[in-house]
Amino acid sequence: MNTSNFSISVKKITQSKLPNIDFSKLAFGHIFSDHMFVCDYKDGKWQNPRIEPYAPFLVAPSMSVFHYGQAVFEGMKAYKDDKGNVFLFRPTENYARMNKSCRRMAIPEFPEELFDQGLKTLVTLDKDWVQPGVGNSLYLRPFVIATSEGVQANPATEYRFMIITSPVQSYYTTKEVKVKIADHYSRAANGGFGFAKAAGNYAGQFYPTALAKEEGFQQIIWTDDATHELLEECGTMNVVFRIGNTLVSPPPTERILDGVTRKSVLAVADKLGIDFQSRPITVTELIEAAENGTLQEIFGCGTAAVISPVTAFNYKGKDYQLPTIEKSYASQIKEILINIQYNKAEDPFGWRVKI
Ligand code: COI
Repeated sequence: MNTSNFSISVKKITQSKLPNIDFSKLAFGHIFSDHMFVCDYKDGKWQNPRIEPYAPFLVAPSMSVFHYGQAVFEGMKAYKDDKGNVFLFRPTENYARMNKSCRRMAIPEFPEELFDQGLKTLVTLDKDWVQPGVGNSLYLRPFVIATSEGVQANPATEYRFMIITSPVQSYYTTKEVKVKIADHYSRAANGGFGFAKAAGNYAGQFYPTALAKEEGFQQIIWTDDATHELLEECGTMNVVFRIGNTLVSPPPTERILDGVTRKSVLAVADKLGIDFQSRPITVTELIEAAENGTLQEIFGCGTAAVISPVTAFNYKGKDYQLPTIEKSYASQIKEILINIQYNKAEDPFGWRVKI
């Protein structure tokens, strides 16, 4: 990576909010650390990178993002080991993916070196917000929004890149995760932008997910828009199925996000000698496996929840229960990932980045 230095100005808070935070009960993503990174795009270039106290800012009602939704984001985490060292996990994957999302949403790409420098300066400044202990982390939320004023339906000419950070623990609070397989709604379409971490991909999920929740399901397993036969993602996560002793996960396509956790699960499975097939999988294959007893596990994987096992699923009104497995692949892989993230084990992949 190019290490050219950008000049990032830093304005610190006068009094930290830290002493007022009860780290024993954190709802995911509700509390934000003392500082934020900001950089604006104007006159054809990214400029004025700065760190400021986390605070609301004034915007015009005609600001483009409110009307046409040009917005992309990333999700990352910082972890602390027992000695107080702070680490990022595969950050360059997020830099690259954010720019892939930007390209698709007609947003100017953000320089990766500036992303790297801004993120590391911010996390270093707020390192006391990264609590030690497995399960604690600082969730990092880089995002870009279109800030031009005006309601013409065109790409904006001005943008703001920001990174805000939030101390978190677990994403899901319930043990039971029952999911519904979508047979009508879909989160992405061919030629669309399902692969991008674009805000609209999440907004479009809220209504069908709320309907599924009314029926008693926590999440939806999304299927393709054309046939509703291809299994695609689970809620806001990639999805992995264990049939017999093989893990199967739909590969990233233009409809499916190329998840960093999914990629990491694949590499860890490979290291453990577990067969991992990155290939399309159909609802028919899943139902057959559930009925003939070969379906062992389903889990979602993403930065926020890491690995989230599914306990049961429903398809067109019929329930299917997943077996309870002693040493599940999900738990074995999660343990290895966590040990790498919290510097509790060797990192044979070179994923950990010390700040
Ligand atoms: C992730 O797990 O990476 C996510 O993007 C979840 C986020 C929507 C909270």
